[in-house]
Order: sequence, then C-alpha cells, then structure tokens
Amino acid sequence: MQRVHLLLSFVILALASSFASASDPDPVQDFCVAINDIKTGLFVNGKFCKDPKLANAGDFFFSGLDKPGNTSNPVGSKVTPVAVTEIPGLNTLGISLARIDFAPYGLNPPHTHPRATEILVVVEGTLEVGFVSSNQDNNRLFTKILNKGDVFVFPVGMIHFQLNKAHYNALAFAGLSSQNPGVITIANAVFGSNPRINPDVLTKAFQVGKDVIDYLEKQFWYDNN
Ligand SMILES: *[C@@H]1O[C@H](CO)[C@@H](O)[C@H](O)[C@H]1NC(C)=O
Repeated sequence: MQRVHLLLSFVILALASSFASASDPDPVQDFCVAINDIKTGLFVNGKFCKDPKLANAGDFFFSGLDKPGNTSNPVGSKVTPVAVTEIPGLNTLGISLARIDFAPYGLNPPHTHPRATEILVVVEGTLEVGFVSSNQDNNRLFTKILNKGDVFVFPVGMIHFQLNKAHYNALAFAGLSSQNPGVITIANAVFGSNPRINPDVLTKAFQVGKDVIDYLEKQFWYDNN
C-alpha cells in the first residue's frame, strides 16, 4: 500500500513538473503587443469569448463553400478561407478550412502559413504541388502531381505552392491546424511590402542589380487570399 502511494505521488509529481515546464501557448495572430489598460485591448491571443450560455448553432456555422471563388486575377486562383473570422466558434480550437479554386494553369503562388500545417485534397483537376524544406535541410523540394482524390501535406511554416497543370479548372479543399493560419505570399512580402524594403537589402539578397529590383517592385502583387 505504502509503495503504491509512493508510486502515485511520483506520477503526480512528474505530471506537475511537466505542466510547470510547458511553454507559452502558440500565438494565434501575427503579434499581440502588451498593454496595461484593458479598455484599449483587442485580442487575448485569439479573440474574446462570448458568454458560453449565449452561444448558438450559428456561431459554429458557415454557408457558401459550394460557390467557386473568382479566379479572374493575375495568378488565376482564389482562396476562400473559413477560419475564425468566418466562424467565431472556431476561437481557441486550432483548426480551419479553405476552398481553393484554380483557373486553367492558375497558380496559388509560393506562400507560407506561419501558424498552420495544411492538408489538401484535390476534388477536381490536376495540381502540381510542392513545399521546400528549411536551409538546415538544404532547401529540398518535395513535389507531387495530384489528381482527383489525392491528398498532400504542407508542414507548418514551409514555403509551398499549387499549380493547375491542365487547360480546365481545378478545385481543392484544405484543412489547416490553426483558427487563424495566416498567409505570407513570398513575392508580395518581399517585393510588395509597404513601405518598400531598402533596395540595398534586396539587391544583395537576390544578387541582382537595382534595375531588376525596381522592375519587380513595380509589379502588382495580387493577393489571392
Ligand atoms: C471576377 O473578378 C473580375 C476582376 O476583378 C471582375 O471583373 C468580374 O466581374 C468578377 N466576376 C464575378 C462573377 O464576380
């Protein structure tokens, strides 16, 4: 009996210490600058919570994902997110969804989700998809041609893309492991930042002349999200 008690207290101690050493919760927005006056606050790592007694089915509902996104744009793709902005009931739940429409040869350009792993299923058409691993892994490209019913995973933070390979539309749905995955489209962030990044940074980073950087910065970097 004594030994069982001892064992039990060990287990409880081990559990307690593992809780104590747990890290801070992951942020669910780009940043959350601390303030002292709560009246001027907006977010509490996510959104404020409604009184649970006032919650209703509508808080967990979204309609319209049957409608194709408008792909008449420079990249020929459109992402329709269904995240915490669209479904407030997703707050703190760490999951969301997106519909991605592709015009013929349309591209969902290289981008990263800072807060989510993505799992994508092709419902119509053929997509060439891929992600690139980190510098430490020598920036390896992991790529596949996906047909209807095929599924691919883009690990959190990895730069990834989807290209419609065909002369007809493609359609995919994606699950994401955040209520607010965030999107950073590489070209938009680098060449379309506001205000622009000092060209000295970009000429050296990309090892090209200022004329090339000027040219790239003059492009219209469409945001398909
Ligand atoms: C799609 O977007 C284009 C470009 O903005 C616009 O001209 C067109 O009217 C839109 N189509 C629909 C059906 O909304």
